[in-house]
Amino acid sequence: MVTVENGFVFREPSEKSRDVMRRDVKSISPSYTRSYGFAISHGKGSEVWDVDGNRYIDFAAGIAVLATGYSHPRVVEAVKTQAEKYFHIGSTDFFCPQPVRLAEKLQQVVPIHNATNPDDKLTYFANSGTESVETALKLARYYDNKRSHLIAFYGAFHGRTMGSLSLTASKYTQRAGYDYIPGGVSHVPYPARNEGDKWTDAVAFIEKFVFKKVSPKEVAAVIVEPIQGEGGYLVPHDDFFPRLRELCDKHGILIIADEIQSGVGRTGTFTALEHFGVSADIVCLAKGLGSGIPIGAVVAHKDIMGKWIPGAHASTFGGNPIACAAANETISIIEESLLDNVNTLGSYTYDRLTKFMGDHPSMTRVDGKGFMIGMDFTDADGKPAPDFRNEVVNKCYLKGLLTLGCGTSGIRFSPPLVLTRELLEEGLDILEHAIAETEEEMFG
Ligand SMILES: Cc1ncc(COP(=O)(O)O)c(C=O)c1O
Repeated sequence: MVTVENGFVFREPSEKSRDVMRRDVKSISPSYTRSYGFAISHGKGSEVWDVDGNRYIDFAAGIAVLATGYSHPRVVEAVKTQAEKYFHIGSTDFFCPQPVRLAEKLQQVVPIHNATNPDDKLTYFANSGTESVETALKLARYYDNKRSHLIAFYGAFHGRTMGSLSLTASKYTQRAGYDYIPGGVSHVPYPARNEGDKWTDAVAFIEKFVFKKVSPKEVAAVIVEPIQGEGGYLVPHDDFFPRLRELCDKHGILIIADEIQSGVGRTGTFTALEHFGVSADIVCLAKGLGSGIPIGAVVAHKDIMGKWIPGAHASTFGGNPIACAAANETISIIEESLLDNVNTLGSYTYDRLTKFMGDHPSMTRVDGKGFMIGMDFTDADGKPAPDFRNEVVNKCYLKGLLTLGCGTSGIRFSPPLVLTRELLEEGLDILEHAIAETEEEMFG
C-alpha cells in the first residue's frame, strides 16, 4: 500500500514518518527539496531504517557524503575519543594536532599542479562544500588581484552562498532572486561525452567566445567539476582536461577542481581528476571527507596559498578537531581497502546497467566512474523525461532502495564506498525492476 500526503509518497507503515514530515513542514524552511517520505531512524554500513521500521539499501549516501557508510565503527571510535578530550579549540587562534595530521594526509593524497613533493602543498579547513568553494574563489583572486573574472560551466553546482552561487548554473530555482558577485562569471558548456552537444569542445568555446568579451589577463580561474555531479553525473571527453590545462598555463589562469562530490575515493581514485592525467592548482573537498561529520578542505600549491597573510581568511569552526578526527579515520579506511571495492563494484555496475539499457529504450545514457554513475531517461521522442525519472525514484523507495535524481531526468548511483556485492545486487535488482515497471506503465 502507498500513502501520499502533502505531495510526498510514503512507504507503509508510515505513521511515524508522516508525523516527522508534518512537524517538519511547520517548523523548517520550505527551501529544502525533498524527494519522498523517508524519515531516518538509524543506519549501518550501506543499510538504513526509517522511523516506522522499514529497511532500505542506500544508493544515495546522504548526497554522496557517507564515504565509510553509516556510523563506521572506526569513525565512531575516532569521534568518541576526540569528543572525550575536547570538542573545540579554535584552530584560527591556537595550534591543534588533529587538523595538522589531516593536512599532512592531504599533502600525501591530493595531487596539485607543479607540486613535486608533499611539502609543496598547503590546506585550509572549512565546514562545508560551499565554504570550500568561497575559499578557493578568494584565494584565486588574492593570488593575482588584477584578475577577478571567473569561468564556470553550465550545469555546474558549486554551492549556495553568494560567491559559489554565482558559479552555479544547475537549476534556475537555485539562482532566482540572487545577483551575481562583482567581477563577473562566464559560463561555458560542459564538455560531456555521450551527450551529442556540438559545443562539447569547451576549450575552443572559451577561446572563441569568452576571450572575446574578457581578456584572458582578467581571468582568475576556471572552476570545474571533474565529473559533473548535480548536472547529471556527466563525464568529460578524455582530451578536455589536458587541453584546459594547456590553455590555463598559457594565460596564467588557475584551475580550481571542485571535487566536493567526486573526491575522497568516490570514483575509485582519491580525486577524480586523477583519471584525466592532469592536476589542478586548487582542489576543493567536503562531502565524503568526514563520512558525514561536516568538514571542507581546500588544498593548493604553497606558492598560491602561501601568499595569504594572517587574517586574510579564517573561520571559527574550520578544522574542528572532531571533524578532523572523523576525516583522518575516513582517509585511512579508504586507503586501506575501499578504492579496490569502488573500482571492482563500480565497473560491474556500469556494465550491468549498460547491458540493461540495451533492452530498455527509456534509458538512454549510463556513464560515470567508480561509485559515481549516472543514468538518464527520455520519452519516445528522445526528450528528457523527468516524470518518468521521478516515478522510478519513488518506486525504488517503495521497494526499499534510496536513490536521488540528478540532471534534468537522471538518477545517480552514489552509494557508500563500503557497499558490499550482496547489497549492490539486491539494490540493482530493485532499480531495474522499478525502471522496467515504469516503462511498462508509462509507455506500454
Ligand atoms: C560539486 C559540488 N560543489 C559544491 C557543493 C556544495 O556543497 P555544500 O552543500 O556542502 O555547501 C556540492 C553539493 O552538492 C557539490 O556537489
